[in-house]
Amino acid sequence: MAPYMFIFLGFLSYASTSRVLELSDRFLDVRKDGHWLVMFYAPWCAHCKRLEPVWAHVAQALYNSNIRVGKVDCTRYTTMSTTFGVSGFPTIMFLKGDVKEFTFQGDRTKDEIINFALRLSGPPVQQVTRQESFDMLKSSNNIFFSYVGPYEGPLWELYYDVAVRFQPFSFFYSLSPTLAKKHIGDMKTPTVLVYKEDSLYFFEDNEIDQQKLNSSLTHWVNTERFGTFVKITRGNIHQFMQTSKYLVLAVVFENKLEEVPEDMIMFRDMIKSVIVNHRDKFHRHFQFGWVASPDLANSIAMTELPLPYLLVVNSTTNHHHFPDDEAHHLTPDAVHMFLDSILNQSAPSYGGNSIPVRLYRTYFEARTSLSEMWRGNPVLTAVLFGLPLGFLSLICYSICCADILDADDEEDEADYSHEKKD
Ligand SMILES: *[C@@H]1O[C@H](CO)[C@@H](O)[C@H](O)[C@H]1NC(C)=O
Ligand SMILES: *[C@@H]1O[C@H](CO)[C@@H](O)[C@H](O)[C@H]1NC(C)=O
Ligand SMILES: *[C@@H]1O[C@H](CO)[C@@H](O)[C@H](O)[C@H]1NC(C)=O
Repeated sequence: MAPYMFIFLGFLSYASTSRVLELSDRFLDVRKDGHWLVMFYAPWCAHCKRLEPVWAHVAQALYNSNIRVGKVDCTRYTTMSTTFGVSGFPTIMFLKGDVKEFTFQGDRTKDEIINFALRLSGPPVQQVTRQESFDMLKSSNNIFFSYVGPYEGPLWELYYDVAVRFQPFSFFYSLSPTLAKKHIGDMKTPTVLVYKEDSLYFFEDNEIDQQKLNSSLTHWVNTERFGTFVKITRGNIHQFMQTSKYLVLAVVFENKLEEVPEDMIMFRDMIKSVIVNHRDKFHRHFQFGWVASPDLANSIAMTELPLPYLLVVNSTTNHHHFPDDEAHHLTPDAVHMFLDSILNQSAPSYGGNSIPVRLYRTYFEARTSLSEMWRGNPVLTAVLFGLPLGFLSLICYSICCADILDADDEEDEADYSHEKKD
């Protein structure tokens, strides 16, 4: 991004702070009126401070919608956090009517948060009735699902049911057969399709058994809602671990300005080319992506990885695999062979989910945070860990919170008695 963009964005965030409503516990009386997107925060929490400018942009973008954007200081209004069961900060929730609450679980970027709110503010399945609306959907860059056919029968019922369950995560539409025919061409109806990256993919399963069709449609939607080559972070890895696929991760380094060194971009593009050119072969079993924070990959592999690096994670067992060759020597063909050997289970696997591995991972994470602290502030670290109490609390903290695959460590623990905890 050019420097002048920063100045521009900085100005915007300043001008738009007023779009965020500061809520108190009187909010409980009005919550049932309309749609609310609320951030629960604590003043001492560093992640909340980082979310603050993003939140202002979200409020600005949703200003002309029917969604109101607010925030609650949970140290002042503790009844609010108990009412909504808030256990960590920041927590983002969408509130709809008297009873419906949805907690945001993703990467806390402006677009992700806005899409989350937009999906939930409409019905689970939105009907597309006009030609222009379909064109608009296609140009929105969002992945979306659509049903084509009559609003009755088993596929429609299951589609609706899946849409209700996945509404926080994806957009679901329905298209009349005539409109679909005009846009997409002839097709067998009823059918379900997904539109992503300028292509259409159909759900192909003629299962008669309702229960089997349900699980196959659920699995299909759960895996197709992601792009072909995604950025995987601590905020969203939890979602990918539920796909029952192998995660193929290109591990690179990204600085604070989101810049990746040239050689690592080439490596990342090479890995991407494997799935782009051989989707038919690998898509069923592998979800491809890249990781920009080496510490996430390090805690999966439980060692300090050289960069760039190729790591494959089995999302059901948490085992991981890596190729024999160094990343710089990898070619698309070598990656093919490596993925084949994972599929036929001849590749060696490491890690997993057993108790000794979990303990070691905890120890590794604790050691890493300690050495980071030491690098950041040796004096403070020495003083802190000179006290046995400090040590004890670190151990307790790591045991409770260091499981990366739960992806909870983005959040600060709710603790009202220690306001200086930041
Ligand atoms: C489909 O399966 C899911 C669990 O996988 C279940 O929660 C849901 O109720 C099922 N829906 C129908 C209509 O059977
Ligand atoms: C993960 O490992 C298990 C056990 O080896 C295997 O059955 C499964 O197919 C692997 N792959 C995925 C994606 O779960
Ligand atoms: C597994 O796949 C690799 C790579 O294609 C191949 O070299 C190896 O012979 C295969 N092993 C088995 C047991 O099929």
